[in-house]
Amino acid sequence: MSNLKQNIAEEALTPRQIVEALDTYIIGQGEAKKSVAIALRNRWRRLHADESIREEIVPNNIIMIGPTGVGKTEIARRLARLAKAPFIKVEASKYTEVGYVGRDVESMIRDLTDIGVSMVKSEMQEHVREKASEQVEERLLDLLIPPVRKSTPEKRPGFQQHDDAAFDPATASDSDLNHRTREKFREKLRNGELEDRNVEIFVQPTGQNPMMQIFGATGMEDMGMNIQDMLGSLTRGKGKKRQMKIKDARPILLSEESEKLIDDDAAVQEALKRVQNSGIVFIDEIDKVATGSSGDGRGGPDVSRQGVQRDMLPIVEGSNVSTKYGMVKTDHILFIASGAFHTAKPSDLIPELQGRFPIRVEMNSLTEEDFYNILTRPKNALTKQYIAMLKSEQVDLDFSDDAIREIAKVAAEVNASVENIGARRLHTILSSVLEELQFAIPDDIKSGAITIDKSYVDRQLEKLTKNKDLSHYIL
Ligand SMILES: Nc1ncnc2c1ncn2[C@@H]1O[C@H](COP(=O)(O)OP(=O)(O)OP(=O)(O)O)[C@@H](O)[C@H]1O
Ligand SMILES: [Mg+2]
Repeated sequence: MSNLKQNIAEEALTPRQIVEALDTYIIGQGEAKKSVAIALRNRWRRLHADESIREEIVPNNIIMIGPTGVGKTEIARRLARLAKAPFIKVEASKYTEVGYVGRDVESMIRDLTDIGVSMVKSEMQEHVREKASEQVEERLLDLLIPPVRKSTPEKRPGFQQHDDAAFDPATASDSDLNHRTREKFREKLRNGELEDRNVEIFVQPTGQNPMMQIFGATGMEDMGMNIQDMLGSLTRGKGKKRQMKIKDARPILLSEESEKLIDDDAAVQEALKRVQNSGIVFIDEIDKVATGSSGDGRGGPDVSRQGVQRDMLPIVEGSNVSTKYGMVKTDHILFIASGAFHTAKPSDLIPELQGRFPIRVEMNSLTEEDFYNILTRPKNALTKQYIAMLKSEQVDLDFSDDAIREIAKVAAEVNASVENIGARRLHTILSSVLEELQFAIPDDIKSGAITIDKSYVDRQLEKLTKNKDLSHYIL
């Protein structure tokens, strides 16, 4: 526990810091940001609470409700980077009730555990990196100059030392020669002189075997054993010898060597602790498994959806899920659900499930002012993306302030008159505005500075905004 505590303590952001970090990508939605920030910080608080009560403190799961395109998924995505804890984002609609074909709900915990394990392993690999690189160097040297066989006499009297003065190639033993060559190559290797030299190494087949994916899809992974590993070990050793440059071989050897240096059992134990104490599952599109007002609970998909909800209950409430690394207790895993709830309402979820998400946050519809900010402020703002893209063609794109205001205004108008798709509208509008320009570069416009102003925006959008029908299709 102490190790785990330390790990979380070092990295724990305060609620305000979390909100600030989210602010760099997401405009508005203060309430939602605050809720997730508190929930995240509470993980840390629990681990630092008195041991006698620690087990009793359960996370307050959150459900985020808001129209489409207002940043629900975006918050999840950004949170994943901040959490520094095993984090998985899943889509509720991907799961099916136990017994039906498809993934069962428990697999989200298995996936979370996989993430936890690889997270811990890569941290551990980082720790042994130096040692591993030393071993890689030796292996590369072995490949470059195969070591001499032991049959030659190790040393001859008088030649134990490798000082240059005493060295005479004519009388030196094979191993002396070999040693000297090796050291020369080591120097060259370190200087980066041999990066393009070819070596031959064994490469283990990587990537998923298509067969395993079929097994996965039909739920065979639930058999409690790890078929993937079984098949893996059957096919292992079928690695191929491949010629490659030293610079390409190095990362492969490095991961092999660091894999050897870490203690797998310790990694798994640490990962299980982290998953159980600080794991976060973000369930997106939860409204897709709500039955909706049309469903009376009987008939096809509704039954299955309710089944998914019912399967979720024990996991969210706290139960044991068996994974290939052992049992995982879900009591302290934090669940954040989100959904647009267009057709279905939160009250269409089965009551038990509603009760397990005590915190509800409403996400707001975005305003024209929000759109303006979304276009300009976030680190990855759309305008910044286009500027960066066209820079590659030596075009300096620039947007005047009134042009951005105009785009925001049109987006708000089209959302109001056609359909509210939130900030996604900005993508469609901006791409229409810039279509002609993007096509003309670099054939007609070679390079230089281009400023998009309000009149340019109006001209590009005129045809579309005038014609309601057309705007239905295009914007
Ligand atoms: N508040 C916001 N600030 C910045 N960008 C936003 C905001 N809301 C949405 N966006 C942008 O709009 C796009 C869609 O947002 P997102 O995927 O979060 O929608 P959503 O709320 O999950 O909608 P849905 O219910 O349809 O899944 C993203 O590319 C995101 O960058
Ligand atoms: Mg979404």
